[in-house]
Amino acid sequence: MTKDFLTIADWNEQEIRETLGLAAQLKSGKLAPHPLEGKTAAMIFHKPSLRTRISFETGIAQLGGQGMFITDAEIKLGERESIADVARVLSRYVGLITIRTFSHDHVVELAKYASVPVINALTDKFHPCQVIADIMTAQEHLGRIDDLAVAFMGDGNNVFHSWCNLAARIPMDLRLGTSPETMPDPEVVQFARSTGKSKITITHDPVEAVTGADVIYTDVWASMGQKELAGQRQKALSKFQVNSDLVSRAKPSAIVMHCLPAERGREITDEVMESLQSVVFDEAENRLHGQKAIMVQLLKHRS
Ligand code: CP
Ligand code: NVA
Repeated sequence: MTKDFLTIADWNEQEIRETLGLAAQLKSGKLAPHPLEGKTAAMIFHKPSLRTRISFETGIAQLGGQGMFITDAEIKLGERESIADVARVLSRYVGLITIRTFSHDHVVELAKYASVPVINALTDKFHPCQVIADIMTAQEHLGRIDDLAVAFMGDGNNVFHSWCNLAARIPMDLRLGTSPETMPDPEVVQFARSTGKSKITITHDPVEAVTGADVIYTDVWASMGQKELAGQRQKALSKFQVNSDLVSRAKPSAIVMHCLPAERGREITDEVMESLQSVVFDEAENRLHGQKAIMVQLLKHRS
């Protein structure tokens, strides 16, 4: 197992399956490990957060540790001093580092120089903790994680990239319904395809994307740091809105997911968010259990 969890592709299939099993056990209360006993965990956040921040801080406390929330006002990562120096200093104090920032390369740099585990809590490129919680939620509601047809509707963004990485490890029929202007990073898609593990389809036809899907997924059309693109994205992506008509094209048993926060009335309607097929709050809860499992795994492999 790697020292850090920066992308889902850091882990092999067995490590991902083992982590999901552990997350389910932690959720059931059968296990209550304290690998962070007596330790501090740094939580560096350069973007807003409800779910990630609170679920990490809660999870760190439940694992016996103390979360320390750090914004850019304190350490000015890479400005006041180099990322490498920050990594080496922090590693002398804390047992674990979580970081949410813009540049994925900065997180890679931090992890390279930190001697303690670093967890990616979202970058412009990836959101791995989210997709661990998502697939855990799919397992709970659909009874399996293998060979699911997953239709991701909207922007080819950081969350979609993490789904691509999951598709490189767990077999699925992953479809992206998006516009020509909002395509994902071709390298990330190519990596997933090169593993031959899953079928990956990108289409500009929303109906093609959702037909027969087990999971319909969406996320905001303009991510944090790109909100000025909201108007343009509205035009490009409106036909990919997850509404009742689109949901009716998926399997009757299909679940609807959204990583949240949602911009209701844009990428998803109120009606769908509140429908029986929506599992968005289970996903949000599973951030806690999934991240606790990720932390336990990383800390276990260090002792
Ligand atoms: N889904 C998610 O990461 O939410 P926050 O931005 O609130 O952490
Ligand atoms: N793609 C979104 C996810 C938020 C959890 C963003 O990066 O803003």
